[in-house]
Amino acid sequence: MGVIHALDRDGVEHALPAREGLSLMEILRNAGLPVEATCGGQCICSTCHVYIDPHWADGLTPRTPTEQVLVEDTGHFRETSRLACQIEFSPELDGLKLELAPEY
Ligand code: FES
Repeated sequence: MGVIHALDRDGVEHALPAREGLSLMEILRNAGLPVEATCGGQCICSTCHVYIDPHWADGLTPRTPTEQVLVEDTGHFRETSRLACQIEFSPELDGLKLELAPEY
């Protein structure tokens, strides 16, 4: 079990228990943070849009072309934009920081 730190849309930081094999979206949603995830993690809805702390963003697997299009279409794209359902938690990500993007 690890931890991720999530900044919500009110600027409040939450330390969330993170289990290996769960996606970041599932970790956020399980903790009750307002991540709609209407497509259930299928990389379709982009309601799980987050900004990964730059310190951690570089170490992640790159966005797929589909993910790239979706995060750009949100209107809130940043270089550190990711869909949280597309990143699986692993021990290397223990301590990762992210911020919830504005609602789509
Ligand atoms: S939950 Fe729909 S794109 Fe991530």
